[in-house]
Amino acid sequence: MKTVLVTGGAGFIGSHTCVELLNEGYDLVVVDNLCNSDACALDRVQEISGRTLDFVRADIRDSAALNDIFSRYSINAVVHFAGLKAVGESVAEPLKYFDNNVNGTVVLLQAMQRHEVFNIVFSSSATVYGDPASLPIKEDFPLAAVNPYGRTKLIIEQILFDLGKSDSRWQSVLLRYFNPVGAHPSGLIGEDPNDIPNNLMPFIAQVAIGRLQELSIYGGDYATPDGTGVRDYIHVVDLAKGHLAALSHIVQTPGTVAYNLGTGQGYSVLEMVKAFAAAADKPVPYKIVARRPGDAAQCYADPALAAEKLGWRAELGLERMMEDTWRWQSQNPQGYRQ
Ligand code: NAD
Ligand code: WQD
Repeated sequence: MKTVLVTGGAGFIGSHTCVELLNEGYDLVVVDNLCNSDACALDRVQEISGRTLDFVRADIRDSAALNDIFSRYSINAVVHFAGLKAVGESVAEPLKYFDNNVNGTVVLLQAMQRHEVFNIVFSSSATVYGDPASLPIKEDFPLAAVNPYGRTKLIIEQILFDLGKSDSRWQSVLLRYFNPVGAHPSGLIGEDPNDIPNNLMPFIAQVAIGRLQELSIYGGDYATPDGTGVRDYIHVVDLAKGHLAALSHIVQTPGTVAYNLGTGQGYSVLEMVKAFAAAADKPVPYKIVARRPGDAAQCYADPALAAEKLGWRAELGLERMMEDTWRWQSQNPQGYRQ
């Protein structure tokens, strides 16, 4: 398991995972088309880790480019982050999502099969649980997609289950992320959305730095303690370490297995706003508006299976999530575009 191909390694979660993989001694090849990231993130990854990685700017749908990578390097495993992730955009442009995410993964898996690389860790999402009937969410809960983005994750999961059944050499770990937030403690890498953020945490951070005026809180009348939505926010460094655990586990476990990567602890939007304002020592102006269509009131993981089987659990609490996000945002007010 020495050499790992990381797809989408220049992105938010990919860049943090590259740091942890390099620190652990893996050799890395990153493939990314930079459609939602900046190559500068990979320079910073190398700065933080004091190690180098090889970067190939290519699209995972480019079969020839992938063949070239698998021919040139002796890849042992793939950690597959590359994908589009904006829920609203996926509703407006479903074909873009099915092509990029599903077709992209099929082209990647074909290249892997051709070169006899059968180990993959896949970035799945808690979105595959749809609107869960009860909480906390366990891995054997029924799966349902509530938007095209979620459907791409579900289809890719099913492809990996089918592959595992077709050939016992395939070993896939599906990591179902809850709500990744935070940044590397160096402040050198973090989340840098291209447009106005869709997600809560980067939105709050951009309000605090003055790029956005005010947060709209989507709904104050949910059946939650303070009426605002509750989610399982997980520090991206904890999440990154979950991939190390998955890679060590993959060699021992044939077939396809899914794990929740979450903390098991839910926080409301108002709790997040308050905690961020305290860490940044800045007010975060907000107003409560109508609910966002498709949002569940609450969503949090049962992380017990990952603890039992992978020996992984999240360690960083809310305060660190906020401090690290603020360090990244205040040191890089415009993200990677300085
Ligand atoms: P991101 O957009 O920051 O990173 C994705 C990376 O993939 C980007 O660098 C992008 O340029 C690259 N990419 C996209 N399509 C590509 C293609 N066709 N070929 C090559 N590169 C391509 O997103 P992220 O937050 O780091 O998410 C990483 C993965 O985790 C995604 O698959 C996402 O769906 C999944 N995920 C994210 C979250 C979240 O809230 N951030 C939650 C659950 C799952
Ligand atoms: C969190 C909470 C909002 C923005 C999404 C995807 C999911 C996964 C993670 C990839 C909710 C509230 C948000 C804002 C707000 N991604 N909110 N004002 O919706 O839990 O999950 O990202 O797989 O698939 O659906 O995350 O950060 O958008 O929202 O009040 O401007 O913050 O209503 O309660 P979500 P989020």
